Amino acid sequence: MSRIRLGRILQRILVALVLVGVVVLATAWWLGTRSAPPVAASTEVFDDAELIERGAYLATIGNCAACHTARGGEPFAGGRALPTPWGTLYGTNITPDDEHGIGRWSADDFWLALHEGRGRDGQLLYPAFPYTSYTHLTRADADAIYAWLRTLEPVNKPNIAHDLPFPYNQRWLLAFWRALNFKPGANATVTVAATSNDNAKLLERGAYLTKGLGHCAECHTPRDRWGGLLRSQDLAGTTMPIGGWYATALTPDVDGLHNWSEEDIAELLQRGTSSHGSALGPMAQVVFSSTQHLKADDAQAIASYLKQLPAQGHRQPRASASGTTHGAAAYRQYCAECHGDEGEGKEPGWPALAGNRTVTLPDPANAIRTVLNGGFAPATQLNPQPYGMPPFRQVLSDSDIAAILNHVRGSWGNEAPPVRANQVQRARGFELD
Ligand code: HEC
Ligand code: HEC
Ligand code: HEC
Repeated sequence: MSRIRLGRILQRILVALVLVGVVVLATAWWLGTRSAPPVAASTEVFDDAELIERGAYLATIGNCAACHTARGGEPFAGGRALPTPWGTLYGTNITPDDEHGIGRWSADDFWLALHEGRGRDGQLLYPAFPYTSYTHLTRADADAIYAWLRTLEPVNKPNIAHDLPFPYNQRWLLAFWRALNFKPGANATVTVAATSNDNAKLLERGAYLTKGLGHCAECHTPRDRWGGLLRSQDLAGTTMPIGGWYATALTPDVDGLHNWSEEDIAELLQRGTSSHGSALGPMAQVVFSSTQHLKADDAQAIASYLKQLPAQGHRQPRASASGTTHGAAAYRQYCAECHGDEGEGKEPGWPALAGNRTVTLPDPANAIRTVLNGGFAPATQLNPQPYGMPPFRQVLSDSDIAAILNHVRGSWGNEAPPVRANQVQRARGFELD
């Protein structure tokens, strides 16, 4: 008798749990697939020269080419491999080709892709396409980019299928990811123009560019394990999942832009170097293909916006790197010729390592990668012939590199935690990119 009653109770609990589960899933599905209210096109004339020119500029600041142009491939014809922790995606063909590109797309279709992350058939798009940021664009700016893309030479090149294992190849599952991580931007019709003599307008423009087209958060903001941006730690700095570069904090923290002036930030974005160090690795590519082309007002707007962000309260960990005589000797042999005996650097093109942020970051990832791979600051209009640094991958052992970096990190006023040889060893495994 009581056993039967217990059985019934359990049955009811089970039914209730299933019902709750269904409601939760249905709500998440609704949240992840709902549409934002429609926003009318800003124009009916898409062949206006001024609109097209603005679109070209905006597409450059959005760095669309970085993902939609394959290495050595035709511009915007797709095929660029984008490795992620979940598999490799390929940028698509966004030339105005009818068959494989956006030839048949209307301005509304294009707007829905940028604003809502939806393809032409309404399918949910993978957030490797950073619509999580582009959703903050205004309709007018999206229309300008559309107008410009329509002027490109159509390229009849098929798209490459994404290489994603199950379950990540199931697009419909993106509905649940979106329920947690994506909300369409709300200011589609606001005009956000820069005027450097009105501070409020400048900050508004800076926020617009940083959050939207510049998609700075996509690299500089930490993510949860499913790739959702942790908005409470906006621009707080994080290790990039592929390649292991540390995208530094852009907040005014000690390990962020604390002692950078607005001019320093604008200079880094436009020139690729600043007195605090130069753009390296993925940031060098961002500067090269995108931010060097920022108009002065826009670079200034981003810099002003970043400088007024709240600090995240990072603290530099207590220093403990201390050099050895071996490290000091190896530094003199391999590095001093360019960076100076006291890490003071040399004009015109060899950066100081004393007080250099790449050197003093708690996370040594970028310093290790620079020594292993060498490199150039990006070639920009303001710095067309950057000086280079040779790679030391073949020349120095893991322990030599660790010893040199410990010398550099513990000398001339630098105070940063020590580097271990196995950190260098692990960094060797990553591709050069
Ligand atoms: C970080 C890489 C990245 C950047 C930057 C990027 N895209 Fe994409 N984009 C992608 C990927 C990957 C896809 C494919 C997404 C999918 O299949 O779900 C895509 C898809 C698209 C689509 C949908 C195309 C289709 O065939 O369904 C459009 C339109 C688009 N991007 C336009 C742009 C524009 C305009 C910009 C610049 C403002 C841009 N993208 C910048 C990676 C990027
Ligand atoms: C031939 C000259 C040369 C030599 C030798 C050299 N470097 Fe460099 N180094 C440069 C130049 C030029 C840059 C800036 C290039 C860039 O941004 O990629 C640079 C950048 C760096 C950076 C990044 C600094 C920043 O501003 O972001 C670090 C760290 C560094 N070097 C450390 C070393 C160490 C350690 C050695 C010795 C193992 C060394 N370098 C040897 C020329 C040199
Ligand atoms: C594709 C990834 C990526 C994007 C997008 C990106 N960054 Fe970076 N950024 C990095 C990485 C990695 C570093 C660290 C390497 C270095 O020091 O240059 C960095 C460094 C920086 C630095 C410090 C440079 C230094 O020498 O210490 C600034 C300032 C910066 N980024 C600003 C921005 C702004 C502003 C945006 C948006 C307009 C942006 N970044 C977008 C990856 C990115």
